[in-house]
Amino acid sequence: MQLFLDTANIEEIKEALGWGVISGVTTNPSLVAREKRDFKSLVKEICHMVPGPVSAEVLSMDFREMISEARELSKIAPNVVVKIPMTKNGLKAVNVLSQEGINTNVTLVFSATQGLLAALAGATYISPFIGRLDDISNEGMDIVQDLVIMMENYNLPTRVIAASVRHPMHVLESARVSCHIATVPYKVLEAMLRHPLTDIGIQRFLDDWAKVKNELESGM
Ligand code: E4P
Repeated sequence: MQLFLDTANIEEIKEALGWGVISGVTTNPSLVAREKRDFKSLVKEICHMVPGPVSAEVLSMDFREMISEARELSKIAPNVVVKIPMTKNGLKAVNVLSQEGINTNVTLVFSATQGLLAALAGATYISPFIGRLDDISNEGMDIVQDLVIMMENYNLPTRVIAASVRHPMHVLESARVSCHIATVPYKVLEAMLRHPLTDIGIQRFLDDWAKVKNELESGM
C-alpha cells in the first residue's frame, strides 16, 4: 500500500517526505485556497519536491475548458496528475486525456458504479471519498472495497485512492481491503505515528538509564 499526503502545504510535505513514508501528494481547490498562493507556482514547487504523482484539480466544469485546463496543468511537471470531477464532462475529458497520455485522478467519487465508469473511461486513479460518506451515515469503506475488487476482477489498471480520510482507522481499514493508496491529511499521519505506550516506554528507558548512570558516576 502507498500513502499520499492530502495537502497543499509546503511545510507539511517537507516534513512528511523526511519520514520516507509518502509516495505522492493530492491537492484540491479548498486545500490550495488555504495557502493563499498562485496555483501554478505552488503546484510546480510541490512537483519538484515530490518524487511521485501530484494531483492538481481543474476548476472548469465545461468539457472543452476542462481539457485545455488539464493540458496546461500537465505541462507544469511530468508528475502532475490532473484531478477531474466525477461528472459526464469529466468522464469525457478523462477519455480524451488518457488517450493523450495525461494521467488523471477522478475525484468526488461516492459510489462504486461512479468509480467503475471512471476506470472504464481510462482514469489513472479514482478517489472514493470515505469520510464524507461516513458523515452522512453511509459506509465509505464499502465503496473502497467494491472498487478494489472490481479493478482486480477485471484486471483494470486504475488505482484506487481512499480519500477524505479522517483518522488512522480509515487507513487501517483501507489496507485491510487491499486498497492501493490512501491519501491522508498531515494530522492523520501524525496520529498514525503516536502511541502513548511508546511515549511511556521511552520515558521509562531514559529514567532507568539515568538512575544507573548517576550511580556509576557517583562510584556505586
Ligand atoms: C482527495 O483527493 C481530497 O483532496 C480529500 O481527501 C478531501 O477530503 P475532505 O473530505 O476531508 O475534504
